[in-house]
Amino acid sequence: MKIAVLRERADGERRVAATPETVKKLGALGASVAVEAGAGEAASFADADYAAAGASVGDLAATVANADIVLGVQGPDSAALSGARPGAWVVASLNPFGARERVDAYAAAGVEALAMELMPRITRAQSMDILSSQSNLSGYKAVLDAAAEYGRAFPMMMTAAGTVSAARVFVMGVGVAGLQAIATARRLGAQVSATDVRSATREQIMSLGAKPVFVENVAGIEGEGAGGYAGETSPEYQAAQAELVSAHIAKQDIVITTALIPGRPAPRLVTDAQLATMRPGSVVVDLAVEQGGNVEGAVAGEVVTRHGVRIVGHRNVPSRLAADASALFSRNLFNFLNAFWDKDAGRPVLDAEIGDAIRLTQGGRIVHARLLG
Ligand code: NAI
Repeated sequence: MKIAVLRERADGERRVAATPETVKKLGALGASVAVEAGAGEAASFADADYAAAGASVGDLAATVANADIVLGVQGPDSAALSGARPGAWVVASLNPFGARERVDAYAAAGVEALAMELMPRITRAQSMDILSSQSNLSGYKAVLDAAAEYGRAFPMMMTAAGTVSAARVFVMGVGVAGLQAIATARRLGAQVSATDVRSATREQIMSLGAKPVFVENVAGIEGEGAGGYAGETSPEYQAAQAELVSAHIAKQDIVITTALIPGRPAPRLVTDAQLATMRPGSVVVDLAVEQGGNVEGAVAGEVVTRHGVRIVGHRNVPSRLAADASALFSRNLFNFLNAFWDKDAGRPVLDAEIGDAIRLTQGGRIVHARLLG
C-alpha cells in the first residue's frame, strides 16, 4: 500500500495534505508514504522532517508511481495521476459541483475520487470533517484580519491619556466559523453580538458571552434546513431580518459574515445602503465571498473600501493559517483512512454510508447520485 502526498498547485494554496506527524501514523498502519519534494514548504514542514518520519521524498513522477492512494488538499489534476495504480483513491477536497470537468477527468483516468467535503455530519465522522476543522480556523482568522484592518483597538482601555472604548463586533451566521469568531472577538475584549436563522444558535451565542440578535414573530421563520444546516428563508423573514440588521449594523465597528446555505449561493445579508450607515474606519469581513458573498461590494481576493468601510474578501482563509490548517486537515485524512483500515486487506475499505456519500468516480464512471441526477 503506497500513499502519495502531492505538492498543491492551486493558486495561493499553502496547505499540505499530510504532516510529518500523520506520515508517521500512516507508516504505523503499514503503508509506505511518498511525499513530493517541497509539498510542506509553504506550511512550514520541511522535506527533511517528512523523511525523518519515514517518507520517501522525490519528484512528482516518483511520488505518484504505483500509488494506491493520493492525498491532496484541493486535489491534483488528473494529468498528475498518470503512473498511479488503476483504481487508485484520490482523497481531497474536490469541489465536485464547481469543478465538474475535473471529476469527469478522474473518471476517465480510472481513479476513485473521494470528496472529503461531502463527508456526512454524523457523530462517527466528526474527526474526519474537513469543513469543520477548516471553518473553525477561518472564523478565528477573520477576527484577526478585521483587527489588522481596524485603526482602533478591540478592548476597552482606561489610560492616563483617556479611555479607549471597546470595539463592537457583530457576527452574522453562527455555524462553526461564526462560533469561533465570537469566541476570538470576546478574547480580544470586544463587545460581541451575533445572529443566525437557526434558533438553536441563540443559546450557543449566549454561552459564549455574546448578545443574540434575532428576528422574532415572523411567519415563515423556518431557517432550519436539513441536517443541522440552514435553509432558505421566506420573503417576510428576509424583510424583517433586513430591518433588524439595518438598525443594528449602524452601531457596529466590525461585522463578520459567515452565512452559507448548502447547494445555494450565499445569502445577501449586508447591502451597500447598510454599509453607508457604518462609521468610517469600520471593517466588514465576508467569509462567504467565494460562494457569492454575504456583503454587497465584497470582492474575492481583495480588500476594498466603500463609504469609508473596509470590506475584506480574502480567498481561502484557512490557507492563511497554513501550518495549523494543514495539521488539522491531515489529521482528518488520517482519521478517515485509519477508521476504515482493514488489517487483513492491508488497505482501507469503505462502508456504504460513507462510501456512497463521498465517492464521485469508480471503475471509469461517475457514480455519485448528485452528479448523476
Ligand atoms: P454553514 O457553513 O453551512 O453556515 C454557516 C452559518 O450560516 C450557519 O449557522 C447557518 O445557519 C447560517 N446562515 C445561513 N443563512 C443565514 C441567513 N440568511 N442569516 C443568518 N445566518 C444564516 O454551517 P456550518 O458551520 O458548516 O455548520 C452548520 C451546523 O452543522 C451547525 O449547527 C454545526 O454545529 C453543525 N455541525 C455538525 C457536525 C456533526 O454533527 N458532525 C459537524 C459540523 C457542524
